[in-house]
Amino acid sequence: MFRVNEDYLKLPGSYLFSMIGRKVAAFTQANPDKKIIRLGIGDVTQPLAPAIIESLHSAVDEMAHAETFRGYAPDLGYEFLRKAMAENDYQSKGCEIKADEIFISDGAKCDSGNIQEIFAKDNKIAVCDPVYPVYVDTNVMAGRTGSYDAGTETWSDVIYMPCTKETDFAPELPKETPDIIYLCFPNNPTGSTITKPQLQEWVDYANKVGAVIIYDAAYEAYITEKNVPHTIYECVGARTCAIELRSFSKNAGFTGVRLGATVIPKDLKAGDVMLHSLWARRHGTKYNGAPYIVQRAGEAVYSEAGKVQLQEQIDYYMRNAGVIYKGLKDAGYNVSGGVNAPYIWLETPKGMTSWEFFDYLLEKANVVGTPGSGFGPSGEGYFRLTAFGSYENTAAAIERIKAL
Ligand SMILES: Cc1ncc(COP(=O)(O)O)c(C=O)c1O
Repeated sequence: MFRVNEDYLKLPGSYLFSMIGRKVAAFTQANPDKKIIRLGIGDVTQPLAPAIIESLHSAVDEMAHAETFRGYAPDLGYEFLRKAMAENDYQSKGCEIKADEIFISDGAKCDSGNIQEIFAKDNKIAVCDPVYPVYVDTNVMAGRTGSYDAGTETWSDVIYMPCTKETDFAPELPKETPDIIYLCFPNNPTGSTITKPQLQEWVDYANKVGAVIIYDAAYEAYITEKNVPHTIYECVGARTCAIELRSFSKNAGFTGVRLGATVIPKDLKAGDVMLHSLWARRHGTKYNGAPYIVQRAGEAVYSEAGKVQLQEQIDYYMRNAGVIYKGLKDAGYNVSGGVNAPYIWLETPKGMTSWEFFDYLLEKANVVGTPGSGFGPSGEGYFRLTAFGSYENTAAAIERIKAL
């Protein structure tokens, strides 16, 4: 008789966005005349930029001819894309990352979930609280998190690093020493960031205690302030302690196209073993690569036209972020984020819980956001709005909230 992986059964409740979906569906059914504005899920809404569409079309045409047809991609991904990333994302910023240290994938979600496979099962993870749920849930599936306490909504074998207004929504170095540290800046869900000297402290700490940092840079393109690092490899010593996850979803609108990358420097070792070799083995065994067509589209992100068009797209979303941030502040809310990230994190008013505020906003303003408690216990009493909607919807949503 087969048995299931019982670690899956430990996962609590339904996924945050399914719950939101159910509540919104019930409201819509009861109020078919109400126009709901969704500022909840972090999905982009602007179409792909012309430079990317052009590249997709020409790659499709190549696939139509025997001379230019491509089958399986090389294990690490096509050199043209890895080279463009190494030059533009790293070398141009003075970071010593080479093309053969970059592994192309179909997105940062899969990589952030799969990367834990190359570490020992008894390694202890440290995560920010609140946090992008994938880091914890995939470690639960792998049996690395111990038992769940429904009262505190925490796992016995996970080190939580609270990111609260007292810490400016940044984590502090944990008291208990972790083996694997997940960091994400600019942050989802809080929209917070840390400065380069602050990130340097984490790199120094990881090198000192022998921990690895898994650094999720999915929102790097939204950074507007000069002292905020775009990659962890801007910090001295990061090559011996950090893996970086990159995504094309938020900087180029690839949420439906699918493209990402993981960077593992060859200096990152456990004893004599290079993590690069383990991930290469995993990639070669379990993965057959992002499509050629999509990798060509990714290359266009780094073309001159692509850079200009994508900056315009980011400016568009950040204009929304400004409208949300200012509108809520004017309405008397305590707000953070929205300056280096497309997420605005607000304190729920009048002592409401995150879910109470969700219901209130849905019913009274017909606006959908995301309850902070869905990202971890320290998210209770907070709420996330995203800047990924259209400008018109964003402005209308904020007017409705201000009128409450
Ligand atoms: C922090 C973070 N990492 C990764 C992802 C997923 O990125 P991708 O679309 O490349 O899988 C998201 C998506 O919302 C995210 O917020």
